[in-house]
Amino acid sequence: MDNFEFYNPTKILFGKGMIARLDEQIDQQARVLVLYGGASAEKSGTLGEVRKALGQRTFCEFGGIEANPTYETLMKAVEVARKEKVNFLLAVGGGSVMDGTKFVAAAVPYQGEPWEILLKQGETVQQALPLGTVVTLPATGSEMNSIAVISRKETGDKLAFSNPHVFPVFSILDPTRTFSLPPRQVANGVADSFVHVMEAYMTLPQDAMVQDRYAEGLLLSLHEIGQRITSAPADDYDLRANLMWVATQALNGLIGAGVKQDWATHAIGHELTAKYGIDHARTLAIVFPAMLKERREQKRAKLLQYAARVLGLTEGTEDERIDAAIARIEAFFEGLEIPVRLSAYDIDRAGIDPIIAQLEEHGMTTLGEHQDITSEISRKVLERSL
Ligand code: NZQ
Ligand code: ZN
Repeated sequence: MDNFEFYNPTKILFGKGMIARLDEQIDQQARVLVLYGGASAEKSGTLGEVRKALGQRTFCEFGGIEANPTYETLMKAVEVARKEKVNFLLAVGGGSVMDGTKFVAAAVPYQGEPWEILLKQGETVQQALPLGTVVTLPATGSEMNSIAVISRKETGDKLAFSNPHVFPVFSILDPTRTFSLPPRQVANGVADSFVHVMEAYMTLPQDAMVQDRYAEGLLLSLHEIGQRITSAPADDYDLRANLMWVATQALNGLIGAGVKQDWATHAIGHELTAKYGIDHARTLAIVFPAMLKERREQKRAKLLQYAARVLGLTEGTEDERIDAAIARIEAFFEGLEIPVRLSAYDIDRAGIDPIIAQLEEHGMTTLGEHQDITSEISRKVLERSL
């Protein structure tokens, strides 16, 4: 196991009715900016609950943060935050709103042009406004990590940054707030969480017993949730609660501590979203199975471990078990009604070139747990997913 430092200061308040506890989490004297996305938070009543819980505090609101939040929109929120002299940010939404809020938190006190935060991957962030979140979409794990992914319309970039200053101080996870999600977003949440676990786990044997078995527990849970969720009623509290907790744990740093991680699927997926506007989770379903096919030798031992411990596949030759495991992963995505091919989005061979060019432009040419996934290998991965 590699040396590691594990730090996660986010307090989680989990369960039905927990939004009312906002009142205890934020200073009475705080000047709060509530940030949200489109119409969903208002329609579902979540914003109403938040306003009620904020009580007599001074607060203002900034709505309109889009899916794949853009720098252009977020800079308007920065302006509002500076003008209103707010000193606490509250994100009400999914990954896009939470990520956008993290960017605003870092950008408000930033000396210089805030896009630099993305260009330097968060290294130059010295301080940030404190922030909390009220989660409405279990998927990204943003509620308990220090990562944000921001897009820029003008340049077509989608870049990530990370910095400990943008860990949420608290996150409220009330599964009933997810009941209003369209089925497609629920499926996206399952798929994204699954690939988050896999990016940390499906690498090479590193004799990290705790990380491996914790990841396998999350994967087993996700397989079970995946099987049930498309036919379950939207208000199945326990199923939603399990999805919410698994999504948070999939990317809160614990399973990735002390092990080499992959993240090549995400790097390629972000370029697919930037170029073709495909939902984040859906890009992963295209890339991940193809990545496994391309990297089956490098990932052989872990593929066999996953096949045996998670899928119970112990019969047949090694290659048969690996084939079966990859087929099960494709079936898992397809069972969620998420396509695993680029052709489902009318993207053909010619559509791969701009993705490779973007990866090169962003320096994403030494990806994966061995840092040996060049842009040529990324091309092969995408060709396998045509
Ligand atoms: O805008 P509104 O009207 O709120 O609608 C949203 C949005 O259209 C809707 N929605 C959210 N909660 C709802 C709801 N609709 C009904 N009822 C509710 N309760 O869902 C749509 C998608 O929301 P979004 O926040 O974009 O989805 P998600 O949570 O999947 O976030 C995706 C973003 O997170 C980034 C992705 O790249 C993408 O930009 N990621 C962030 C990560 C992180 N911070 O650690 C890691 C991930 O790998 C990912 O890259
Ligand atoms: Zn993701």
